[in-house]
Amino acid sequence: MRTPILAGNWKMYKTIREAVEFVKQLPTDNPAEGVEQVICAPFTALPALSERLRGSAYRLGAQNVHFAEEGAYTGEVSPVMLKELGVSYVIVGHSERRQYFNETDESVNQKVKAALKHGLTPIVCVGESLAERDAGRTGEVVRRQTKAALAGIPAEEAKQLVIAYEPIWAIGTGRSSSAEEANQTISQIRRVVAECAGEAAAQAIRIQYGGSVKPENIGSFLRFPDIDGALVGGASLKADSYLQLVQGVLAARR
Ligand code: 13P
Repeated sequence: MRTPILAGNWKMYKTIREAVEFVKQLPTDNPAEGVEQVICAPFTALPALSERLRGSAYRLGAQNVHFAEEGAYTGEVSPVMLKELGVSYVIVGHSERRQYFNETDESVNQKVKAALKHGLTPIVCVGESLAERDAGRTGEVVRRQTKAALAGIPAEEAKQLVIAYEPIWAIGTGRSSSAEEANQTISQIRRVVAECAGEAAAQAIRIQYGGSVKPENIGSFLRFPDIDGALVGGASLKADSYLQLVQGVLAARR
Protein backbone atom coordinates (compact mmCIF):
# COMPACT_ATOMS: atom_id res chain seq x y z
CA MET A 1 0.00 0.00 0.00
CA ARG A 2 1.26 3.47 -0.88
CA THR A 3 1.21 5.97 1.99
CA PRO A 4 -0.58 9.16 0.90
CA ILE A 5 1.64 12.21 0.80
CA LEU A 6 0.46 15.72 1.49
CA ALA A 7 2.92 18.42 0.49
CA GLY A 8 2.47 22.13 1.07
CA ASN A 9 4.22 24.22 -1.57
CA TRP A 10 4.62 27.62 0.03
CA LYS A 11 6.05 29.13 -3.17
CA MET A 12 7.57 32.57 -2.50
CA TYR A 13 5.58 33.15 0.68
CA LYS A 14 6.67 33.40 4.31
CA THR A 15 9.64 35.04 5.95
CA ILE A 16 11.61 32.99 8.47
CA ARG A 17 9.52 34.43 11.27
CA GLU A 18 6.25 33.57 9.52
CA ALA A 19 7.47 30.06 8.76
CA VAL A 20 8.40 29.45 12.39
CA GLU A 21 5.00 30.82 13.51
CA PHE A 22 3.36 28.26 11.22
CA VAL A 23 5.20 25.23 12.58
CA LYS A 24 4.59 26.31 16.16
CA GLN A 25 0.93 25.64 15.43
CA LEU A 26 1.51 22.06 14.30
CA PRO A 27 0.96 19.21 16.75
CA THR A 28 4.49 17.87 17.18
CA ASP A 29 3.77 15.31 19.86
CA ASN A 30 1.40 13.23 17.79
CA PRO A 31 1.53 13.98 14.07
CA ALA A 32 -1.16 12.17 12.11
CA GLU A 33 -0.27 8.63 11.19
CA GLY A 34 -1.22 7.30 7.78
CA VAL A 35 -0.24 10.41 5.85
CA GLU A 36 3.24 11.63 5.10
CA GLN A 37 3.53 15.39 5.49
CA VAL A 38 6.01 17.58 3.68
CA ILE A 39 6.49 21.32 3.94
CA CYS A 40 8.19 22.84 0.90
CA ALA A 41 9.40 26.20 2.17
CA PRO A 42 11.48 28.95 0.57
CA PHE A 43 15.24 28.34 0.86
CA THR A 44 15.68 31.09 3.44
CA ALA A 45 13.27 29.45 5.90
CA LEU A 46 14.69 25.94 5.56
CA PRO A 47 17.43 26.15 8.24
CA ALA A 48 15.03 27.41 10.94
CA LEU A 49 12.39 24.84 10.01
CA SER A 50 14.95 22.07 9.88
CA GLU A 51 15.98 22.86 13.42
CA ARG A 52 12.38 23.02 14.67
CA LEU A 53 11.20 19.87 12.90
CA ARG A 54 14.23 17.71 13.62
CA GLY A 55 13.17 14.38 15.09
CA SER A 56 9.52 14.96 14.15
CA ALA A 57 7.52 13.10 11.51
CA TYR A 58 7.21 16.23 9.36
CA ARG A 59 9.45 16.26 6.33
CA LEU A 60 11.04 19.29 4.80
CA GLY A 61 11.08 20.03 1.08
CA ALA A 62 12.76 22.60 -1.15
CA GLN A 63 11.11 24.07 -4.23
CA ASN A 64 14.04 23.81 -6.62
CA VAL A 65 17.54 22.39 -6.85
CA HIS A 66 20.46 22.72 -9.22
CA PHE A 67 21.75 19.56 -10.89
CA ALA A 68 25.43 20.15 -10.09
CA GLU A 69 27.00 19.42 -6.72
CA GLU A 70 28.83 22.74 -6.78
CA GLY A 71 30.13 25.19 -9.32
CA ALA A 72 29.99 28.67 -10.78
CA TYR A 73 26.18 28.90 -10.88
CA THR A 74 25.38 32.23 -9.27
CA GLY A 75 22.19 32.18 -7.27
CA GLU A 76 21.66 28.43 -7.35
CA VAL A 77 21.45 25.84 -4.55
CA SER A 78 22.88 22.35 -4.90
CA PRO A 79 21.46 19.00 -3.76
CA VAL A 80 24.43 18.58 -1.40
CA MET A 81 23.55 21.86 0.30
CA LEU A 82 19.90 20.84 0.70
CA LYS A 83 20.84 17.45 2.09
CA GLU A 84 23.13 19.08 4.62
CA LEU A 85 20.15 21.15 5.81
CA GLY A 86 18.05 18.09 6.55
CA VAL A 87 15.83 18.48 3.49
CA SER A 88 14.20 15.22 2.30
CA TYR A 89 12.13 16.29 -0.72
CA VAL A 90 12.52 18.71 -3.57
CA ILE A 91 9.93 19.93 -6.05
CA VAL A 92 11.27 19.68 -9.58
CA GLY A 93 9.75 21.10 -12.74
CA HIS A 94 6.90 23.05 -11.19
CA SER A 95 4.97 24.74 -14.00
CA GLU A 96 5.90 28.15 -12.58
CA ARG A 97 9.56 27.23 -12.99
CA ARG A 98 8.96 25.83 -16.46
CA GLN A 99 7.11 29.03 -17.39
CA TYR A 100 9.22 31.76 -15.77
CA PHE A 101 12.66 30.19 -15.32
CA ASN A 102 13.13 28.22 -18.51
CA GLU A 103 12.97 24.84 -16.86
CA THR A 104 12.80 22.22 -19.62
CA ASP A 105 12.09 18.49 -19.74
CA GLU A 106 15.86 17.98 -20.03
CA SER A 107 16.79 20.10 -17.02
CA VAL A 108 14.02 18.45 -15.02
CA ASN A 109 15.57 15.07 -15.84
CA GLN A 110 19.03 16.28 -14.77
CA LYS A 111 17.62 17.61 -11.52
CA VAL A 112 15.73 14.38 -10.80
CA LYS A 113 18.95 12.41 -11.27
CA ALA A 114 20.93 14.80 -9.07
CA ALA A 115 18.30 14.72 -6.34
CA LEU A 116 18.16 10.92 -6.29
CA LYS A 117 21.95 10.68 -6.26
CA HIS A 118 22.06 12.74 -3.09
CA GLY A 119 19.21 11.03 -1.28
CA LEU A 120 16.55 13.67 -1.93
CA THR A 121 13.13 12.55 -3.14
CA PRO A 122 12.04 14.54 -6.17
CA ILE A 123 8.43 15.63 -6.46
CA VAL A 124 8.23 15.94 -10.23
CA CYS A 125 5.48 18.20 -11.50
CA VAL A 126 3.72 17.52 -14.78
CA GLY A 127 0.59 19.07 -16.24
CA GLU A 128 -0.99 20.64 -19.28
CA SER A 129 -1.86 24.25 -20.05
CA LEU A 130 -5.42 25.34 -20.74
CA ALA A 131 -4.74 25.54 -24.50
CA GLU A 132 -3.31 22.01 -24.45
CA ARG A 133 -6.29 20.74 -22.51
CA ASP A 134 -8.75 22.42 -24.86
CA ALA A 135 -6.91 20.85 -27.78
CA GLY A 136 -7.36 17.42 -26.17
CA ARG A 137 -3.62 17.07 -25.65
CA THR A 138 -3.50 16.40 -21.89
CA GLY A 139 -2.49 12.74 -22.26
CA GLU A 140 0.22 13.53 -24.78
CA VAL A 141 1.70 16.35 -22.67
CA VAL A 142 1.88 14.42 -19.40
CA ARG A 143 3.28 11.40 -21.27
CA ARG A 144 6.08 13.50 -22.74
CA GLN A 145 6.90 15.18 -19.42
CA THR A 146 6.81 11.92 -17.44
CA LYS A 147 8.95 10.01 -19.95
CA ALA A 148 11.50 12.81 -20.05
CA ALA A 149 11.67 13.06 -16.25
CA LEU A 150 12.30 9.30 -15.96
CA ALA A 151 14.81 9.01 -18.80
CA GLY A 152 17.89 7.03 -17.76
CA ILE A 153 16.64 6.37 -14.23
CA PRO A 154 16.91 2.73 -13.11
CA ALA A 155 13.61 1.12 -12.06
CA GLU A 156 14.79 0.66 -8.47
CA GLU A 157 15.36 4.40 -8.14
CA ALA A 158 12.27 5.40 -10.09
CA LYS A 159 10.21 3.71 -7.39
CA GLN A 160 11.14 6.42 -4.91
CA LEU A 161 9.84 9.29 -7.01
CA VAL A 162 6.76 11.30 -6.31
CA ILE A 163 4.95 12.76 -9.30
CA ALA A 164 2.52 15.65 -8.95
CA TYR A 165 -0.08 16.05 -11.66
CA GLU A 166 -0.87 19.76 -11.68
CA PRO A 167 -2.96 21.04 -14.57
CA ILE A 168 -1.63 24.57 -15.08
CA TRP A 169 -5.10 26.05 -15.53
CA ALA A 170 -6.07 24.80 -12.07
CA ILE A 171 -3.15 26.36 -10.19
CA GLY A 172 -4.14 29.30 -8.02
CA THR A 173 -7.32 29.82 -10.01
CA GLY A 174 -9.86 28.32 -7.64
CA ARG A 175 -10.83 26.07 -10.51
CA SER A 176 -9.72 22.53 -9.75
CA SER A 177 -9.89 19.61 -12.11
CA SER A 178 -12.77 17.26 -11.46
CA ALA A 179 -11.58 14.39 -9.32
CA GLU A 180 -12.65 11.92 -12.02
CA GLU A 181 -10.56 13.69 -14.66
CA ALA A 182 -7.58 13.97 -12.34
CA ASN A 183 -7.85 10.28 -11.56
CA GLN A 184 -7.98 9.42 -15.26
CA THR A 185 -4.86 11.45 -16.03
CA ILE A 186 -3.06 10.07 -13.00
CA SER A 187 -3.85 6.53 -14.14
CA GLN A 188 -2.40 7.44 -17.54
CA ILE A 189 0.75 8.76 -15.86
CA ARG A 190 1.04 5.50 -13.92
CA ARG A 191 0.85 3.55 -17.18
CA VAL A 192 3.66 5.68 -18.61
CA VAL A 193 5.75 4.92 -15.51
CA ALA A 194 5.06 1.20 -16.08
CA GLU A 195 6.27 1.51 -19.68
CA CYS A 196 9.43 3.35 -18.64
CA ALA A 197 10.36 1.66 -15.38
CA GLY A 198 8.22 -1.47 -15.11
CA GLU A 199 5.05 -2.44 -13.30
CA ALA A 200 6.65 -2.67 -9.84
CA ALA A 201 7.85 0.92 -10.04
CA ALA A 202 4.46 2.05 -11.34
CA GLN A 203 2.73 0.43 -8.38
CA ALA A 204 5.21 1.88 -5.90
CA ILE A 205 5.41 5.44 -7.17
CA ARG A 206 3.16 8.00 -5.53
CA ILE A 207 1.24 10.37 -7.77
CA GLN A 208 -0.37 13.43 -6.25
CA TYR A 209 -2.91 15.86 -7.62
CA GLY A 210 -2.32 19.60 -7.35
CA GLY A 211 -4.29 22.67 -8.39
CA SER A 212 -6.75 24.56 -6.17
CA VAL A 213 -6.89 21.79 -3.58
CA LYS A 214 -8.71 22.99 -0.47
CA PRO A 215 -9.93 21.37 2.75
CA GLU A 216 -13.39 21.24 1.14
CA ASN A 217 -12.36 19.27 -1.93
CA ILE A 218 -9.32 17.21 -0.92
CA GLY A 219 -11.52 14.28 0.07
CA SER A 220 -13.03 14.05 -3.41
CA PHE A 221 -9.55 13.48 -4.89
CA LEU A 222 -8.27 11.11 -2.21
CA ARG A 223 -11.33 8.88 -2.61
CA PHE A 224 -9.61 7.53 -5.71
CA PRO A 225 -6.99 4.94 -4.76
CA ASP A 226 -4.76 6.01 -7.66
CA ILE A 227 -4.48 9.56 -6.26
CA ASP A 228 -1.82 9.27 -3.60
CA GLY A 229 -2.06 12.71 -2.06
CA ALA A 230 -1.95 16.37 -2.95
CA LEU A 231 0.52 19.16 -3.63
CA VAL A 232 -1.13 22.25 -2.24
CA GLY A 233 -0.24 25.91 -2.66
CA GLY A 234 -2.58 28.56 -1.23
CA ALA A 235 -4.47 26.33 1.20
CA SER A 236 -1.23 25.14 2.81
CA LEU A 237 -0.20 28.61 3.97
CA LYS A 238 -2.35 28.82 7.10
CA ALA A 239 -1.81 26.22 9.79
CA ASP A 240 -5.53 25.65 10.46
CA SER A 241 -6.26 25.09 6.78
CA TYR A 242 -3.17 22.87 6.44
CA LEU A 243 -4.29 20.73 9.38
CA GLN A 244 -7.73 20.41 7.84
CA LEU A 245 -6.08 19.14 4.66
CA VAL A 246 -4.30 16.47 6.71
CA GLN A 247 -7.62 15.46 8.27
CA GLY A 248 -9.21 15.43 4.83
CA VAL A 249 -6.66 12.91 3.60
CA LEU A 250 -7.14 10.71 6.64
CA ALA A 251 -10.93 10.84 6.44
CA ALA A 252 -10.89 9.88 2.75
CA ARG A 253 -8.65 6.90 3.42
CA ARG A 254 -10.41 5.61 6.51
P1 13P B 1 -2.77 26.17 -5.47
O1 13P B 1 -3.07 25.06 -4.49
O2 13P B 1 -2.60 27.51 -4.84
O3 13P B 1 -3.69 26.13 -6.64
O4 13P B 1 -1.29 25.82 -6.06
C1 13P B 1 -1.04 24.57 -6.55
C2 13P B 1 0.41 24.43 -6.77
O5 13P B 1 0.98 25.01 -7.67
C3 13P B 1 1.16 23.57 -5.84
O6 13P B 1 2.44 23.30 -6.33
